[in-house]
Amino acid sequence: MLPYSIVTTRLSLREPRISDASHLFRTYTTDREVTRYLVWRPHEALTETEAFIATCLEAWRDRTRFPYIVTLTGNEQEPIGMVEARPRGHMVDMGYVLARQFWGQGIMPEALAELTERCLAQPECYRVQATCDVENLASSRLLEKCDFSREGRLERYALHPNISPEPRACFMYAKCR
Ligand SMILES: CC(C)(COP(=O)(O)OP(=O)(O)OC[C@H]1O[C@@H](n2cnc3c(N)ncnc32)[C@H](O)[C@@H]1OP(=O)(O)O)[C@@H](O)C(=O)NCCC(=O)NCCS
Repeated sequence: MLPYSIVTTRLSLREPRISDASHLFRTYTTDREVTRYLVWRPHEALTETEAFIATCLEAWRDRTRFPYIVTLTGNEQEPIGMVEARPRGHMVDMGYVLARQFWGQGIMPEALAELTERCLAQPECYRVQATCDVENLASSRLLEKCDFSREGRLERYALHPNISPEPRACFMYAKCR
C-alpha cells in the first residue's frame, strides 16, 4: 500500500486531481518530443487529458495503479510530470514522464528512486522493473542513476506509435531486494 503523497528534497508526489488535466495539457501531453517513446499519441484536445486523469483517479480508488503527479515542493498546484507504480504480484512496474523544460535536472531520478524504495519496503514486493525503448537514452540513463540493472533486450516488445506502427525492441531494467 503506497501513500497518497510523498515528499522528497525538491519534490512533492501526490494523488492526481481533475484540475491537473489543464496543466498537463499545457505542459506536456501535447508535446511530440515528450511523447516520442511513449505508448500513447500526443493529445489533441483537453478532453483526452481529462479522460486520462479520470482513469488515474479510478486506479487510485481500485488500488490497481498508483499514478503520482510530480510537482516542485511549495508549488503543489503546478504538475511538472508523473510517475506511476503498477503492482503485479511480487513485482512493481514503473512508468514516468516529465515536462521538457524540466529535463536534465535530476528531477525524475529523485522521484523514481524514492518511489522505488517505498515499493521495495513493502513486504510483498521483491522487484521493481521498467522497460524503455532501446533508443530512449534519457530513460536508460535515468534508470542507471537509480541503480536499476539492465537485464536484457526484449525484441518486438512494445508499441511506440509515435516512432513506428510496428512493435519495437525495449531494454528491461530492474532493481530487486
Ligand atoms: C526520461 C526522463 C523522465 C528523464 O528525466 P530527467 O529528470 O530529465 O532525468 P535526468 O535529469 O537524470 O536526465 C537523464 C538523461 O536525460 C538526457 N537529457 C538531459 N537533458 C536533456 C535535454 N534537455 N534534452 C534531451 N535529453 C536530455 C541526458 O542523457 C541525461 O543523462 P545524463 O545526466 O547522464 O546526461 C525525461 O527525459 C522524459 O520525461 N522523457 C520523455 C518521457 C519518456 O521517455 N519517459 C520514459 C518512457 S520509458
